[in-house]
Amino acid sequence: MKEKFEDEIIDSWKNNVNPWITAIRDGEIESRFLVTNKAVVNAILNRKPKTVLDVGCGEGWLVRELAKIGISCMGTDIVPKLIEHAKKVGGGRFKTIPYENLSHNLLPKKFDLIVCNFSLLGNESVIDLFQQIPALLNKGGLFIVQTIHPISGCGEEKYIDGWRKGSWKGFSAEFSKPAPWYFRTLETWKILFQENGFKLREVLEPLNPKTKVPASVIFIGQLASRLSIQKKVLL
Ligand SMILES: C[S@@+](CC[C@H](N)C(=O)[O-])C[C@H]1O[C@@H](n2cnc3c(N)ncnc32)[C@H](O)[C@@H]1O
Repeated sequence: MKEKFEDEIIDSWKNNVNPWITAIRDGEIESRFLVTNKAVVNAILNRKPKTVLDVGCGEGWLVRELAKIGISCMGTDIVPKLIEHAKKVGGGRFKTIPYENLSHNLLPKKFDLIVCNFSLLGNESVIDLFQQIPALLNKGGLFIVQTIHPISGCGEEKYIDGWRKGSWKGFSAEFSKPAPWYFRTLETWKILFQENGFKLREVLEPLNPKTKVPASVIFIGQLASRLSIQKKVLL
């Protein structure tokens, strides 16, 4: 049975479409315009992909940014209103697809790189998504995840995996009903990549220039060849 917190995440995004679009359009999230937007774009560009799938693309800013540079890019999200908005603004291809339905049937082709920018918020939904990603990538394809840094984002709580209470602290008063989110340690993130056939090529810690605290962590995984997975199993 689906955990109830997973549904709360989706409900919260459905409820906060308008404030989210405004927050991104008006640059209301300081860490994004200071650090994390540039960090994820550079991480992608450094790997020179020709095709990119942005999973959990929200209102579509990253797809538009990459399309401007000439990358063939598609974005998917579970919230129809965010996708409607993304289509209206233009600059890329967008489709309403929840994580659990991401498959060849709904996508035009395989991709060189898949990115999740602050869009992996749940527990089971994220585990399931990691299992689906390899089949959507070209040989040697890359999976880039930018998320809350487990050390700087841990707060006063214990450093163990588990559901955390959500908050819109630092966001405008227009936001309501924050959703819970699932905290993972660095080690758990590493295991998620490895268990799903990825070699972790890089782990980046973009620093907030004002506070000198990591604003996020970026994992760059690459699909390992079948041969190297078999060798690992034999060792
Ligand atoms: C913090 S926003 C990030 C949006 C975008 N990646 C960005 O950088 O602005 C999280 C996004 O994940 C999407 N999301 C959450 N759970 C999802 C699911 N199960 N399937 C598809 N999208 C989902 C939400 O609708 C929301 O747009």
